[in-house]
Amino acid sequence: MLRNFVILVALFSTIYCYKTYDGYKILRVNINSADDHQNILSLESEDVQEIFSEGRSGHSDVLISFQNFPRCQTYFQSHELTYSLVSEDVGAEIRKERQGLLLAPQIAQGEFSYDTYHRLNIIYEHLDALAVTHSSNAETFNLPGETFEGRKIQAIRITTNVTSEASKDKPLIWLDGGIHAREWVSPATVMYIIDSLLGEHEKDKSTQMTALLDEFQFIIAPSINPDGYEHSHVKDRLWRKTRKPSGCKKNKYNWFGGCFYKRCYGVDPNRNWSTDWGRAGVSTDPCSEVYPGKEAFDQENTRIVSDFLTPHKDKLKLYVTYHSYSQLFLTPLGYTTAEPANYQHHLKVGACGDAIAQRHGAKYINQRSAALYPASGDSADWAHDVLGLTDSYTFELRPDENSWKVGFELPEEQILPTGEENVDGLLALIANIEYNNDV
Ligand code: ARG
Ligand code: ZN
Repeated sequence: MLRNFVILVALFSTIYCYKTYDGYKILRVNINSADDHQNILSLESEDVQEIFSEGRSGHSDVLISFQNFPRCQTYFQSHELTYSLVSEDVGAEIRKERQGLLLAPQIAQGEFSYDTYHRLNIIYEHLDALAVTHSSNAETFNLPGETFEGRKIQAIRITTNVTSEASKDKPLIWLDGGIHAREWVSPATVMYIIDSLLGEHEKDKSTQMTALLDEFQFIIAPSINPDGYEHSHVKDRLWRKTRKPSGCKKNKYNWFGGCFYKRCYGVDPNRNWSTDWGRAGVSTDPCSEVYPGKEAFDQENTRIVSDFLTPHKDKLKLYVTYHSYSQLFLTPLGYTTAEPANYQHHLKVGACGDAIAQRHGAKYINQRSAALYPASGDSADWAHDVLGLTDSYTFELRPDENSWKVGFELPEEQILPTGEENVDGLLALIANIEYNNDV
């Protein structure tokens, strides 16, 4: 009885505090050329489109409000863009997911589970709990600095004999998740990888894990846009960016110095890095989902991560960043379609997709980042060019784009399999790098 009442109150407050997306639709627009992609980007500044997804090359999923739908259709016609309807009512999908989250059982302090999506404090508390249980192999720390809203970016360092000075000289593998707020399966997957490295899961791989921990130090940050992540939990399920005020819509001010249309929040943190900053796949409108900021690293979170990684440049062997969705393994580079020096190596490393598929049959396609769509200022390009790292990759996790309507809302039952296949994927990725370095 009481429980029902609590759920009712929660649902009620959901309706009032949470962006509803009632009547919003998702359209899948076919992209056959760079021009088509650019036209999709401009759709946003035309005001007919709210966001666009991480689509695979070939098409892009676009979210459109009920009111803007007719204008959007006209725009598509005049630009010769074709599309199909993926979701009729995004609001209904979001409500469904939210009801599931509210019903999820509470877990004890420090515990974690893979049957629901967890808030930031649960993620951080679990990292701390792991560092206590596995004190010889894991320690947690906050990357120096605070996000705009005053949050910490917490990381876990995992290696054999973690407290020894010598362990700090080992070759370093960096993994991060959650740079885009709404891609909830990313932090969840990174957490599963962390748990597995420490033997909490995937116990049959303990010999392999021990060998990895002997050879490398892992530094893993599951949520590198914590302000955005929390915002996507409490206010707007489809929030992508950071949360720092970014200016006025279309840079238009009124006579009194306020915003003519409206105030904008956040910058796309995966367009805010310094590599070829502000050129391809971005928008100058501060309200855009791909607004790169006023300058590179004007967002606290990207600066915190880059400042942390820069001094570790010489030790760093591998950078991997986890996004969703589309099931892709993206290799350098993202801002140019020019073939990078080590392309053959990247192709071989990309064979890790076979290991992923062997686990549950999910196919992740291996492609160059810019072939998906050119975009400047992403984190993997920065690690590649500025840190001089050959092995710098981006995963787009589940779902593939055909199996679920709102791609960021991967159903809870798929969190665990996504984690499992990505433990296998990461092991294969590391093995492929080593093998190919030897030949
Ligand atoms: N979908 C991600 C994003 O939009 C990954 C981009 C990968 N880089 C690229 N140049 N396509 O940020
Ligand atoms: Zn993303």
